[in-house]
Amino acid sequence: MNMFVVDGLSGKASLSGEVSIEGAKNAALPIMAAALVVSGETVLTNVPDIADVASMSTLLEGVGAYVTCKDGQCSIRTQDVNRSVLDPTIAKLLRASVLLTGSVLARVGKVVFPHPGGCVLGSRPIDIFLEGFEKLGCTISERHDAYTITAENGIEGGEIFFKTISVTATETFMIASTKAKAPVVLKNCAMEPEIVATAEYLEACGARIEGAGTSTITIHPSHLEAPPDLVRIIPDRIEAGSFLLLGALLGKKITLRNCEPKHLEAVTETLRSMGVTITTTFNTMSVSAPSTLTGVSIRTHEYPGFPTDLQAPFAVLLTQAKGESSILETVFDGRLNYLQDLSSMGAHAQVWNPHKATIKGPTPLKARDIDGPDIRAGLAFLLAAAVAEGKSKVGNAHLIDRGYERIEDKLASLGLPIQRITHTHD
Ligand code: EPU
Repeated sequence: MNMFVVDGLSGKASLSGEVSIEGAKNAALPIMAAALVVSGETVLTNVPDIADVASMSTLLEGVGAYVTCKDGQCSIRTQDVNRSVLDPTIAKLLRASVLLTGSVLARVGKVVFPHPGGCVLGSRPIDIFLEGFEKLGCTISERHDAYTITAENGIEGGEIFFKTISVTATETFMIASTKAKAPVVLKNCAMEPEIVATAEYLEACGARIEGAGTSTITIHPSHLEAPPDLVRIIPDRIEAGSFLLLGALLGKKITLRNCEPKHLEAVTETLRSMGVTITTTFNTMSVSAPSTLTGVSIRTHEYPGFPTDLQAPFAVLLTQAKGESSILETVFDGRLNYLQDLSSMGAHAQVWNPHKATIKGPTPLKARDIDGPDIRAGLAFLLAAAVAEGKSKVGNAHLIDRGYERIEDKLASLGLPIQRITHTHD
């Protein structure tokens, strides 16, 4: 198992330099899944070199695709895709495996998959997916821990109203509907930039999609052919947000390159209201830690609201802000558990219920050995370790690796003493 050892800076704002933001994990994964419904060779660029992309490649290969990824470029060829079973061991590693249900079903007429795994953020059911496939005329059965969905006579057209707003459900049905027999209207859709990016890829392949990025999306079925041009993955707004928070905590001056500031407005507005100065160009952002941070209330929300994926890293910032801050987590029902570990480092955090917590600050943090429970709380623990006094060990590095490329190299390049320790078992 890998872990990070961080020599904390005791709150001293001494980090400086530039960091380049990778392509977005949560755009690369649905676009890789979407490539299955496209003929020819799709070539993606700016693909992050992270564990989840490797898992998605393996899942695609499992149904017959040819995938090669090197130096941020991934080629996906689909001419021999004819298998319908998602490798259960891999599918259980990442929630995004659920994205393949739509594309495998659309391509092969059948998909067999386990309940998808991924970060433990609460219950994370798949009812919206199952109900949606039923609405489009598919048959569902569940046996021995595996679901089988079939569309013997093809996917029907129709209308789905999502009773809960879901990012991957919106993407899954948008992808599958390109192969339906008649138009499909999706209502109460998520509006994340990654959904727009997936729609833009499909449109470049010949799809006719109206309304991606709004709450109603209409998909007209069409033949899809891979575009002749390279498809560039949009910048990762959550990685960028994570480095912004690092800058607000400990930055003398940190500049992010290759990012998309307009995807982060909820975060930058909140940071500014706390006293943080952020300057932006169309694709860079610079941030420094102010002498005093003012406490604030955040409420996570679907895009364009405050992203739930930055809630845990933001809590670390709130421990250093003056006064009482509050967090209302509205997207997931199990995403505040990490606060217990933050309290053990000296944070004054009180969890009132699975959705609500308050944090009083500022409090100095003390080094601790802690294991991140998921990608984003793991990153939050790296931030906490960086702020703290003393040497912390942050375990479960493999979870952080699911979403962040070379995180220790990037943090070290800004001046943070950090090392990765690899333990091998005999
Ligand atoms: N939900 C249901 N039923 C369903 C599907 C979802 O009740 O069938 C609920 C979930 O339990 C949750 C809410 O709907 O309470 C929203 O979840 P959503 O489906 O939108 O999440 P997701 O699509 O599984 C994506 C990201 C997550 C991110 C969320 C919210 C990808 C691959 N994953 O997940 O990213 O937290 O949207 O923005 O796009 C991460 O990158 O670390 C990560 C967890």
